[in-house]
Amino acid sequence: MNSKFLKTLQRELFLRKEKNLLRKLQVYRKEGVDFSSNDYLGLNFDGTIHNFLWKVLEEYKVQEFTFGSTGSRLISGHRKIFEEVEKDFSFLVKNSDSLYFTNGYVANISTIYSLLSPRDYAVVDQFCHASILDGIRISRSKKLYFLHNDYDHLENVVKKIRSKDTKNYIWIFTEAIFSMDGDSPNLDIILQIAKHYDCEIFLDEAHSIGIIGDQGEGLSSYLNLHNEISVITYPLGKAMGLMGCFVSGDSILKEYLINFARGFIFSTAIPIIILYLLKEIISFMYTQEAFYRRKKVSELSEYTRKQLVSKGYNIKNSNSHIIPILVGSEEEALKVSESLKNKNFNVVAIRPPTVPAGTSRIRLNLHSHNTKEEIDALIYELNQI
Ligand SMILES: Cc1ncc(COP(=O)(O)O)c(C=O)c1O
Repeated sequence: MNSKFLKTLQRELFLRKEKNLLRKLQVYRKEGVDFSSNDYLGLNFDGTIHNFLWKVLEEYKVQEFTFGSTGSRLISGHRKIFEEVEKDFSFLVKNSDSLYFTNGYVANISTIYSLLSPRDYAVVDQFCHASILDGIRISRSKKLYFLHNDYDHLENVVKKIRSKDTKNYIWIFTEAIFSMDGDSPNLDIILQIAKHYDCEIFLDEAHSIGIIGDQGEGLSSYLNLHNEISVITYPLGKAMGLMGCFVSGDSILKEYLINFARGFIFSTAIPIIILYLLKEIISFMYTQEAFYRRKKVSELSEYTRKQLVSKGYNIKNSNSHIIPILVGSEEEALKVSESLKNKNFNVVAIRPPTVPAGTSRIRLNLHSHNTKEEIDALIYELNQI
């Protein structure tokens, strides 16, 4: 290999490996006990979505004339089903309107950079997801972090900005359940601060949609605060079990995004069948079965957190189905995850740059298809390491 370019890449990879930070693809083991997937309600695990697929194929096969969408929604990719599903979803989350994007990463990036200009301020919880940070970066707005869920710090940051600039927008970014820590912000307090200092709020509900609320409507709608939040994004690859992302808010926001969100405008619309499946999944959220599954996730999560804390593990401030077990070094996190994998548990080690240095962890995701016996066995094995 003599290309200068490839040698540079190889050196970067070598440095990562030396620091125990190299990432590798691993084929998911279906036979392993699932403590790692985002399939929180088990819609993939137990074949619920497979069953929807058979139903959709039977009921809708003649109604659509293409499988692939054949173009972006503004060219040839738009169908009535997009509008129907956007309406169904808006009803679930009690919001005025929603726009479907192909995935959460693109939705966050393109929504953020279509809304924020370089004159505006992005005040971001330090643990917000990479898609939020990347959107801010592309927008070239002025980024300031606030300490995770620290409202005094948040207030200090926005107060300082407002004392100098009364004109431009200040956007506050947070998540309903943080993906690596499993805790939630106090939305009431953030709203008070936002009102007082004239800020807009952007909320990502990736890990709460389908999980929080009687119908899985997510944190902001459950607390009836959704109307006071300017933009809410709902990635659908977690409890909703599929893919894509709704961005919800006022219908003016929707129209604006159709015109200015480049990730929406310049990208082929998803295969139409995905929308029919989403329609079934949204209907499922209202069922007794979904209610039961949410309850089970919540009970199992509480049980796991209690067991781990009683055995002295540091699970940070998790109060959800995402439970970090702090181990500290990258090397130790890899060692623990490998040992658990050898005992047939699917778990992942989360390391920098996904989390801050020195906070490498095993992240447990709890699901309705987990059992207390699996949790007890996992904790037993953890104690043996
Ligand atoms: C908080 C959060 N936002 C956005 C995303 C991106 O969503 P998607 O996987 O649909 O691209 C993720 C997924 O990892 C996430 O955890």
